[in-house]
Amino acid sequence: MARPAADKVKRAAVIGTGTIGSAWTALFLARGMTVTAWDPAPDAAAKLDAQLAKIWPKMVALGLAKGRRPQRLAFVATPEEALADAQFVQENATENEALKIKLLARLDKAARPDAVIASSTSGLLPSRIARGMKNPERFLVAHPFNPPYLIPLVEILGGRKTDQRVLAWAMTFYAAIGKRPLLLRKEVPGFLANRLQDAIWVECVNLVARGVCSPEDIDVAIAEGPGLRWAAMGPFLTWHLTGGEGGMTATLKQFGMALGKWTTLKPPKLTPRVRRLLISGTKAEAAGRSVRELEAYRDACVGAFMATKARATRKAR
Ligand SMILES: NC(=O)c1ccc[n+]([C@@H]2O[C@H](COP(=O)([O-])OP(=O)(O)OC[C@H]3O[C@@H](n4cnc5c(N)ncnc54)[C@H](O)[C@@H]3O)[C@@H](O)[C@H]2O)c1
Repeated sequence: MARPAADKVKRAAVIGTGTIGSAWTALFLARGMTVTAWDPAPDAAAKLDAQLAKIWPKMVALGLAKGRRPQRLAFVATPEEALADAQFVQENATENEALKIKLLARLDKAARPDAVIASSTSGLLPSRIARGMKNPERFLVAHPFNPPYLIPLVEILGGRKTDQRVLAWAMTFYAAIGKRPLLLRKEVPGFLANRLQDAIWVECVNLVARGVCSPEDIDVAIAEGPGLRWAAMGPFLTWHLTGGEGGMTATLKQFGMALGKWTTLKPPKLTPRVRRLLISGTKAEAAGRSVRELEAYRDACVGAFMATKARATRKAR
């Protein structure tokens, strides 16, 4: 049986229909797929229905779905039934390594030979949770950010035995349903975005615990400060602009010595190799755009975010 083209998937199975599974279900339905869902909790079918009733109008309001909620959803009694005809499987069970190992082995057994199986795990390593699978080459992690129907990022990560063609297929699949898939080069616990969140979280808790500020102060410091710039272009291009016309090379000259000056995390050494990686990577990302062009782009984004936030704040009052 041939695997369907990644942008032509028609039938998805969703396993585990809590917060993340229900949001994936809404997105797959909105993209015109038929969804078969399973979750062992006794009240799971009713909960999924209630979640969809909540999510769907929000998606319509945001322009992410059109019209009435489609009926192409079947909540079934076993994972085997859910997977019988599925071309793609998104697993979203409770975050527990032993549970996932057992469940993924069962899903692998039940899935069609051409089906791709993805796990939403937030930080478990794919090589470990695929240990019980007979066909680990068709398995990957596709880690979304809550809520997956809205936040674009999906971290894509293969295990030691994952077929590179399956990773390429998954990249196309998630892009085709409107996500921003990001392929990770190595298996590291927590992947990329949660490691970054964790680093900031450490400092947030540290500052509040030491009485330096309140939780609200931290939120203002991020949401009204660097968070606006990060949302436009991430930290690397932001620092590239810090260096003015000299870009990242100038930033490292000026601020390189200050790396880790204030944080509680142990900073890495800014060796010549690390400097080269930072400078060449940022240059590649800038892709020929000048500092002036990037500044104009950043300011347009930040201006738009601030106007949208002001409107949403007025509406919420
Ligand atoms: N909540 C988040 O912000 C978030 C973000 C990204 C990824 N994730 C990941 O998504 C997965 C699900 O998280 P969640 O927040 O939706 O949790 P949740 O508790 O809301 O939902 C988990 C669901 O799994 C079901 N379940 C339990 N055992 C199962 C089994 N053996 N087989 C199938 N389903 C089973 C539960 O009944 C429940 O409905 C986890 O791996 C988590 O790390 C969560």
